[in-house]
Amino acid sequence: MNIPWVEKYRPQTLDDVVGQEQIVTRLKRYVDENSMPNIMFTGSAGVGKTTCALALAKSLLGEYWQQNFLELNASDARGIDTVRNEIKSFCKLKAVGSPFRIIFLDEVDNMTKDAQQALRREMEMYTKTSSFILSCNYSSKIIDPIQSRCAIFRFAPIKAFEIIKRLKYIAQEEGIEAEETALENIVYFTQGDMRRSINILQASTTEDKKITEDAVYDVISRAKPKDVRKIINKALDKDFMGARDLLRDILIVEGISGDDLITQLYQEVTEMSTSGLLDEENFVKIMEYMSECDYRIREGANPRLQLEALISKFLLVK
Ligand SMILES: Nc1ncnc2c1ncn2[C@@H]1O[C@H](COP(=O)(O)OP(=O)(O)O)[C@@H](O)[C@H]1O
Ligand SMILES: [Mg+2]
Repeated sequence: MNIPWVEKYRPQTLDDVVGQEQIVTRLKRYVDENSMPNIMFTGSAGVGKTTCALALAKSLLGEYWQQNFLELNASDARGIDTVRNEIKSFCKLKAVGSPFRIIFLDEVDNMTKDAQQALRREMEMYTKTSSFILSCNYSSKIIDPIQSRCAIFRFAPIKAFEIIKRLKYIAQEEGIEAEETALENIVYFTQGDMRRSINILQASTTEDKKITEDAVYDVISRAKPKDVRKIINKALDKDFMGARDLLRDILIVEGISGDDLITQLYQEVTEMSTSGLLDEENFVKIMEYMSECDYRIREGANPRLQLEALISKFLLVK
């Protein structure tokens, strides 16, 4: 059977979760005490919120966890009333074989304020029998009465070295040979999102069980950072034609989109500034040119023309 690696390598226990040490420690305390309050997980995608909810539920509810655990998505296509009806009918029943029941409600920040008010009343009504785990990307979108009823756990993006370690582990388990630079490029692109990192790893594995830098770039359809850096350096060295040729290769031969490329130029220029390769005055000038170019591309101007005009402006920089 072909299980996606994100599922195959989802940590089954809190101890196996990568990073998020403080969160894991706090959650284990609930397991030790054999009880939990209502809790809220917030943080960006692919950092372990659902994974921790499942692992916590398994530890707390034990053998009968499946009967006593309900996972729902607040953005369910069938509508919020269906979601609330499921919560109601689940909470009315007493826990069997476990001390209480757990409802895991994902994407709560997509609920309207009214729906959140109703949810809050349900949370109050069923406190004796059930605990809620709410999950969202932004806690600021959740009404105060819910926030104040929950212990809040803020999930951070996972550190690059920790993702690389995990990717190496998966590659080893799968009998795959992975280039170090390929893995580095995955984490550069995914910025702390473990789910996307693993998905890219799987998608870029070749038939002969290898993961190369080129295969990674095919999958993420991004330009290689070193090529982007080359464009910038050529332009700053006043070699317009050289910079333009590279730009065309990336846009036409590699098929990278204009707005992806401008984002990458931004990323590279920022890095050059932080590492002292570009002084502040020039950095500010370039940022101004780039934001103008970005705006025009988003408004529908021809991306290639705009990007060529942008690099021609790099020549004005001292
Ligand atoms: N902290 C983590 N440690 C190990 N694997 C993780 C972690 N976070 C995410 N993953 C991987 O990414 C997948 C999706 O993670 P998930 O917990 O569903 O993310 P989300 O924060 O979006 O709920 C998991 O199945 C697992 O393979
Ligand atoms: Mg999730």
